[in-house]
Parts: sequence; C-alpha cells; structure tokens
Amino acid sequence: MIRKLLPTEIDRILEVINDGAQAYKGIIPADRWKEPYMSADELEGDLKAGLTFFGWEENDVVLGVMGIQPVEDTTLIRHAYVRTDYQGRGIGSRLLEHLLQRAKTTEILTGTWAAAIWAIRFYEKYGFILVSRDEKDKLLRRYWRIPERQVETSVVLRLKK
Ligand SMILES: CC(C)(COP(=O)(O)OP(=O)(O)OC[C@H]1O[C@@H](n2cnc3c(N)ncnc32)[C@H](O)[C@@H]1OP(=O)(O)O)[C@@H](O)C(=O)NCCC(=O)NCCS
Repeated sequence: MIRKLLPTEIDRILEVINDGAQAYKGIIPADRWKEPYMSADELEGDLKAGLTFFGWEENDVVLGVMGIQPVEDTTLIRHAYVRTDYQGRGIGSRLLEHLLQRAKTTEILTGTWAAAIWAIRFYEKYGFILVSRDEKDKLLRRYWRIPERQVETSVVLRLKK
C-alpha cells in the first residue's frame, strides 16, 4: 500500500498535507499558521530540491504522505502528514519505517514545530533524539531552506542508524 508519489501528483500530496496540518491550528505560533498551510509553489520548490514523497494508499485514496530528501552527507525526513481522520492508526509509522529503510546515510534528520509535542513523540518512538538549541539552528540553516522565524520555532531530531 506504500508507493512512490510522482511530482505530477502534487495536488494529491497537497491535499493530504493541508488536511493533516489542521492539527497545528491554534498550536503553532499564530504568525506561522496560514490556510492552506502549504502552497503548491512551496511544495514545488521542495520537490525541485530533491524531495521524494511516498504515500500510503487505500482504494486509490492517499491517506498519508512522507518525504525523503538526501542533502550533502545526510538525509532529511520532511512533510510527514496523515489525513486527520486517519491519524493514530499506524499509517505514519509504516511510512517512516519505509523511509528509514531507504535512507542511505547513517544520519537521518527531521524537523518539526517545537509546539507539536505529538510529532516529537512520534519521532522519538523510532529512536530520534532532540538536538540542542545551538545545533538545531546550525542544522536548519545548513540543510533546510526555511525562513528564520521557522528556525526559531522549530526543533530538530536526529537518528543514527
Ligand atoms: C505525526 C503523524 C505523521 C503520525 O502519523 P500517525 O499515523 O498519526 O501515527 P501512528 O499511528 O503511526 O503513531 C505512531 C506513534 O506516534 C505517536 N503519536 C501519533 N499521534 C499522536 C498523538 N496525537 N498524540 C501523541 N502521540 C502521538 C505515538 O507515540 C504513536 O505510538 P502509539 O500508537 O504506540 O502510541 C500524524 O499524526 C500527523 O499527520 N499529524 C499532524 C501533522 C504533523 O504533526 N506532522 C509531523 C510533522 S512534519
């Protein structure tokens, strides 16, 4: 049920992201919340930068998406989203396990909002460990292309295979 999603399927990917991201509403800093949460332009930029999406599909409907992006000497796991009605049923876990198997580097990094406690727990369950604030700033500026305000309000977790 897991398959690679093509860049031509960007609308399906965005639909899942913008549905799953409703979890952030009222939780992340108000100046970081927008609707839709992610635009096609933003996602296209990430796809051009080498992000590949995998999806969990049931009856031709994509219920969850997760992206993997090799950058320099590391691998980023980005944009992990499960549709609101399907969260907490193991879909995110299956996608994460799939991507961890595909990662070719010994280090894997992921970032999320500091306020998204559930997402931090999700990654910690798979052995990811929160990095220090100083290191987080350095890693986000080196491997991600995100606004400075997002750097301030995010955390980074690391997994060593
Ligand atoms: C985070 C997310 C991708 C996880 O996918 P999921 O299919 O819901 O997660 P799973 O059912 O596989 O849960 C795996 C573990 O994650 C943790 N977890 C998931 N949702 C949780 C929640 N709402 N509260 C607390 N822990 C949670 C738990 O430790 C869970 O393990 P358990 O079932 O043994 O308790 C999904 O919940 C989601 O899209 N959330 C909103 C967007 C988001 O936060 N994305 C991540 C940042 S990029």
